[in-house]
Amino acid sequence: MTAASPINRQDLADLLAFYASAGVDEALEDQPVNRFAEAPKPAERAVAPPADAVAPPGSTSTSRPEPADRANLPPVTRAPLITAAVPDEAQAALARHLATTATTLDELRQHMAAFDGCNLKATAKNLVFADGNPEAAVMLVGEAPGRDEDIEGLPFVGRSGRLLDRMLAAIGLDRTSAYIANVIPWRPPGNRTPTPHETEICRPFIERQIELVNPKVLINLGGPSAKTLLNTSEGILRLRGNWRVHTTASGIAIPAMPTLHPAYLLRTPAHKKLAWRDFLEVKAKLRALG
Ligand code: URA
Repeated sequence: MTAASPINRQDLADLLAFYASAGVDEALEDQPVNRFAEAPKPAERAVAPPADAVAPPGSTSTSRPEPADRANLPPVTRAPLITAAVPDEAQAALARHLATTATTLDELRQHMAAFDGCNLKATAKNLVFADGNPEAAVMLVGEAPGRDEDIEGLPFVGRSGRLLDRMLAAIGLDRTSAYIANVIPWRPPGNRTPTPHETEICRPFIERQIELVNPKVLINLGGPSAKTLLNTSEGILRLRGNWRVHTTASGIAIPAMPTLHPAYLLRTPAHKKLAWRDFLEVKAKLRALG
């Protein structure tokens, strides 16, 4: 038999490189967890026999160990309780309450920073509230922060953010003349798609943010933003380029232009011309609205 081989630095480096190429860029725990070792197999669990169990022939034991005997039994090992907080309706109700009671953007940011009802907050580094000018005529809403946004605490600062800046510049706008936020303000781990429940919990915050900014025009970047804020289940390729309306809780109707997400455009550059048309529509609308 060969002895266990010592840890090979090159193997570890290769493993890390593999994780990085697979998109694993987050360590959720300080120590690795062996999930296979965590829960004892059912047969190994120390299970007390039922009170009416018949003692096997030859056995002198009673059906249940007496307290004194029980003290000598090995302790029942329990798997550590993994608190995967499942968001529930109470959290969505709390989010709605916090959102509606915020009377300014600063208050809204504070309420969101203090809110612990969304799982995503537990793994995110920062709350990504907004960037740009809250007095702007245009508000853009994306889906959720990625890695760069999570690190900086600002929306659209990574690769797709740089493309977004170029798209804005193409119609004469920048972050001093536009306001940018996301439906989800905390980065989903590994950039996974937010669950419908996470979206429902965060929805009151972005809806209130739009209401407080009260832009002349809303731009929905990508399908998730359009579906969440325009109350539709249509796909973004059908939605884009057509004016819709986002209606705030207080009944204000804001013209909304769904368009393609910059991250999608990076993957599908042939569709940049479609987004360009959508941005020209926005430019014309702004001019018409004065
Ligand atoms: N994608 C988004 O939807 N939002 C960001 O902030 C960054 C990338």
